[in-house]
Amino acid sequence: MEPFPGQFYMVKAGRGNDPLLRRAFSLFRRTSEGFQVMYRIKGRGTSLLREMKTEDTLEVLGPLGNGYPFPSDEQTPLVVAGGIGIASVFPFLHAHQGRAFVFYGARSGDEIFMLDELRGMGREIYISTDDGSLGTKGSIVDVLNNYLDSSRTDISRFILYACGPHPMLKAVSKVAASRGITAYISMEANMACGLGACLGCVVKTKTGYKRVCKEGPVFKSEEIVW
Ligand SMILES: Cc1cc2nc3c(=O)[nH]c(=O)nc-3n(C[C@H](O)[C@H](O)[C@H](O)COP(=O)(O)OP(=O)(O)OC[C@H]3O[C@@H](n4cnc5c(N)ncnc54)[C@H](O)[C@@H]3O)c2cc1C
Ligand code: FES
Repeated sequence: MEPFPGQFYMVKAGRGNDPLLRRAFSLFRRTSEGFQVMYRIKGRGTSLLREMKTEDTLEVLGPLGNGYPFPSDEQTPLVVAGGIGIASVFPFLHAHQGRAFVFYGARSGDEIFMLDELRGMGREIYISTDDGSLGTKGSIVDVLNNYLDSSRTDISRFILYACGPHPMLKAVSKVAASRGITAYISMEANMACGLGACLGCVVKTKTGYKRVCKEGPVFKSEEIVW
């Protein structure tokens, strides 16, 4: 099945039963040979992935989940990424032909990835880092707010897309709610099965608990109970 931006794969890191559970990784890039993911070393699974060689094989399930709905021709996407969250929105930016603005924040400049590629796509990019080593010092959501304050575009033409740490998603949702902009956010959760069976990944929404792996990972921000 052809993957859609915002979908993900469950990847079995290592051999045998250690670790038992597959790890979730967003579709990063489609290639002629298959697809790529981009990952950050976090714990055992990602450390094992780093040790794999080109000729090794991996068990992979996917593509899974819903992905980002595309904007209408009248809408201009404002895409907010935090750290490794860029992996999820990158294929959206690649596939979307129209104008789009990227707001990309990380702890420091060495955690800002794919900048040349993003610029090569002709995107207007705003960068911020916590330590000020690249772009504006501080939160990318503040940069987004400043942009919206100074923009002369009718705000109803914007649509937000975001992927990153939970506090950033919560802050983006607040911006969206206060300004009346629709926002689609990709939620993260610990996943065991990735297939909707174990209920390990649920998030609380205004219409009950929903599975990030099945009804998500992309939700309208107004749906989430923070
Ligand atoms: C939809 C989605 C897309 C993602 N895309 C990316 C990406 O593109 N790049 C990236 O770097 N990261 C991504 N992540 C995060 C990534 O899945 C985790 O960083 C990764 O699982 C870490 O694995 P680890 O073994 O290195 O870390 P560890 O912290 O050792 O293990 C984390 C994993 O342990 C399991 N686990 C831990 N606690 C529980 C629990 N309470 N219940 C059930 N299972 C548990 C889960 O499988 C969890 O994923 C994504 C996550 C989601 C949900
Ligand atoms: S990970 Fe099992 S239901 Fe989502």
